[in-house]
Amino acid sequence: MTEPASRPNNPLFGPNRLKIGIFGTNGKGSAHTLVQEAYRPTWDNVVRTAQLADAAGYEAIVAYARWKGYIPGRVDSPGGIILDPFTFAAGVAQATSHAAVFATSHAPTIHPIAAAKQCATIDIISGGRLVLNVVAGWNKPELEMFGAPLREHTERYEHLAEWLDIIRRLWTSKEEFDFEGAHFKVQGAMSMPQPLQRPGPPIMSAGGSETGRRFACKNADVCFLLLHSEDPEEWATQISAYKQFARDEFGREVQVWTYAPMVQRDTMKEAQDYLHHYAVEHQDKESVDGWVAGNAATGKGMSIETLNNLRTHFAAGGGGNQLVGTADHIAERLTQLSQAGLDGILFTYVDFIDGMTRFNRDVLPVLEQRGLRAPFANAGKAAA
Ligand SMILES: Cc1cc2nc3c(=O)[nH]c(=O)nc-3n(C[C@H](O)[C@H](O)[C@H](O)COP(=O)(O)O)c2cc1C
Repeated sequence: MTEPASRPNNPLFGPNRLKIGIFGTNGKGSAHTLVQEAYRPTWDNVVRTAQLADAAGYEAIVAYARWKGYIPGRVDSPGGIILDPFTFAAGVAQATSHAAVFATSHAPTIHPIAAAKQCATIDIISGGRLVLNVVAGWNKPELEMFGAPLREHTERYEHLAEWLDIIRRLWTSKEEFDFEGAHFKVQGAMSMPQPLQRPGPPIMSAGGSETGRRFACKNADVCFLLLHSEDPEEWATQISAYKQFARDEFGREVQVWTYAPMVQRDTMKEAQDYLHHYAVEHQDKESVDGWVAGNAATGKGMSIETLNNLRTHFAAGGGGNQLVGTADHIAERLTQLSQAGLDGILFTYVDFIDGMTRFNRDVLPVLEQRGLRAPFANAGKAAA
């Protein structure tokens, strides 16, 4: 019997129609650029960005899991400097009081018993605000560091499903249990204390393939997808098909989120010029080369030509849609995304502090006027 859900302090389930967050402040964000002002994950920067988000009522602060950068042999490249997402989430939890903190786990790199206990601990530190982003891993060189082969694609998700099943049982079981699957064998398993959120912290999943979508719809509360088009009508079709799939196949309601690199300036031209400046003129070409090569070798379905065409897009911050323009333009795009059924969106910036300051000042009030978000009432309650 499943325990009823109780997650009163997690804003992921709050009333705002369009939820917002930041992505990747435990690393360099998602842009591949060599500009001077690019974000670096010093602890000062981590706490400043987290508190800027928290004080403005953002719902999500999401850490990614990456173990090495994309440039073979270059240990000091900015893309390879990444704080551990679990200890990052614990520290951010202590520095904030409202936003959900997301830790990301690579299932092949951490045993489920260790992950379950880390999650319970962060959930307790945060007062019930943890979300667990579960990823199977796709980047061969980083998994090879663990002596763990990159499994065949379907098997990756089978492994991930067993891993998550064990974690969920550890979060809820009142007795010791044994588990024997194709990938894991545990005996007399238990983990105390269990998380504050019941039956456990929500799960995020960002699988892009058919298998990934099935896994997410079955297991996740928050599903990430990359929108295939720039056309709001097509957004609505893609998002509603995703939600309908979760209902039809698994009888579940899921939130659909996406993520977007953002450049906000006073004019459209200034915003586009800056995008060109950091993603083309000052592109970190070696890092982009490494990503193209890695995806061609291990990803699913994308040809090397497609990947090459995506170079600039990827350098700009990856993801599907970019939010580039004036505050009004960005507010309008976000309104359209919400009207298309999107539940939430994560932002990334070249310079998070500058970008978030502009967004909080100019765009957030417009979203509030339009009823997409309520003015944040918790302001001032942020942790010292
Ligand atoms: C918002 C978002 C966050 C992601 N975070 C990570 C991450 O932290 N680490 C990682 O290895 N992959 C991450 N991924 C990649 C996905 O886990 C997944 O490998 C990718 O979307 C390909 O999906 P597929 O395996 O179903 O083909 C992320 C993807 C998205 C869209």
